[in-house]
Amino acid sequence: MLDHFFVTPGSGFSEHPHRGQETITYMLSGAMEHEDFTGEKGLLNQGDLQFMTAGRGIVHAEMPTTDPDVSVNIGMQLWVDLPAELKDVEPRYRDLRKAEIPTATSADGKTTVRVISGRALGVDSLKELAYTPVWYLDVTIQPGGKFEENIPSKWNSFCYVISGKARFGPIDGQNQVVEEFNNLIWDTKGDRVFASVDDDMEKEVRFILLAGLPLQQDIVQYGPFVATSQEGINKALSDYRSYSNGFERARGWVSGITGGLH
Ligand code: CO
Repeated sequence: MLDHFFVTPGSGFSEHPHRGQETITYMLSGAMEHEDFTGEKGLLNQGDLQFMTAGRGIVHAEMPTTDPDVSVNIGMQLWVDLPAELKDVEPRYRDLRKAEIPTATSADGKTTVRVISGRALGVDSLKELAYTPVWYLDVTIQPGGKFEENIPSKWNSFCYVISGKARFGPIDGQNQVVEEFNNLIWDTKGDRVFASVDDDMEKEVRFILLAGLPLQQDIVQYGPFVATSQEGINKALSDYRSYSNGFERARGWVSGITGGLH
């Protein structure tokens, strides 16, 4: 799941649980604070990411900054399924700060890629941050520029256009123009991505390219829980309601940040 969120001060994601997935939150503008029932707390500023493994269970709050200069906090949250054998791991966090993310630039200077995870234009990301191998590239192409990259073969992949529009392909001999807020989903088809922006297009494009190892397991999602079966979802609901099997610390827990950042 990919959520491109626009959160205004005063709103946000108050206390809620997760189980069975990893969430990767990327702040595009503004800032977001998070706190969970273990006491873990942090702040994501523009350009920062947080990789959160929900594992067997977590309850947390994710709230935007109340900075009066920020009218809307924009970001993306990607959910990555956990392999069945890792569904019960303890929750954990990995933060990736803006300054830690290498930037790759094409020879003509028209394409830049923030290599959050994976490899682009010969530049490798800093470290593995999720249990499941994931590539996460933030690509900007100026008019007249292009981007070509091999992605691991047989991986699921897609792109999502944040702003502007790009031409993708040729794929099966066809080009496809993808506009702002739209996806292009390749599944496991192919292992090379071609994207370009025509000379006469007025604006640069910015898109994210995501790829991950397919897990070959069933995905059953219900609200914030991701399991491999309906029984797994039923168990998550009953464990959450009875404060058991990972949700013990949810009893009586109230986040200190739901009133916003202070
Ligand atoms: Co959450």
